[in-house]
Amino acid sequence: MKFFLDTANVEEIKKADDWGLLDGVTTNPTLIAKTGRPFLEVAKEIIEILGPERPVSLEVVATDYEGMVRQARELAKLGPNVAVKIPMTPDGIKAVKTLSAEGIKTNVTLVFSPSQALLAAKAGATYVSPFVGRLDDISMEGMKLIEEIVTIYRNYDFETEIIVASVRHPEHVRMSALLGADIATIPFATMEKLFKHPLTDIGLERFLKDWNSLPEDFKPDFLK
Ligand code: G3P
Repeated sequence: MKFFLDTANVEEIKKADDWGLLDGVTTNPTLIAKTGRPFLEVAKEIIEILGPERPVSLEVVATDYEGMVRQARELAKLGPNVAVKIPMTPDGIKAVKTLSAEGIKTNVTLVFSPSQALLAAKAGATYVSPFVGRLDDISMEGMKLIEEIVTIYRNYDFETEIIVASVRHPEHVRMSALLGADIATIPFATMEKLFKHPLTDIGLERFLKDWNSLPEDFKPDFLK
């Protein structure tokens, strides 16, 4: 399963990249606004860090077909790794069809039902982004949506990749992997939590304490 970082914060992106765990980045207008920086400055920096292979999702803000297509073409010019995020609406799906035919990568966002995901795949979207956390927030089962989309896409061999979005905690990541989702886009704080287990900390502390109880001349220089 690929790990994308769901952020527009360049420092967070650099840290996850340094861990060697970063397969891509997703942003949205809210995450861009949180940076307090000009859009193009942030977008170009992220695109450069990720290089030509790893995708960066940048979202259109137009809601009509012509506007979305025009904005998507401009966003796609920013780099070969740009995937344009398009909202799940009739105009959005029409725009995805046009952009796919032009070879522009697309990511259909704000997906909350299996039938919406089916439309995105039929339109030729590169990625689909079902929002699990926001479904959980209204007492619906976010991960059930992922299970159903995985089944539907497998039934028909759709090539659209499933990005589990609106991830809130490590349990969403665990379930995404168990269900066979292609990608989870993870906030930085959640990615940090994936490393953690109290028994790892306790175990490491005990190993070091026992090692330190050895006489110094029992230890080779390279382990001192
Ligand atoms: O980028 C889309 C999605 O991941 C947003 O998550 O936490 O705002 O529901 P959230």
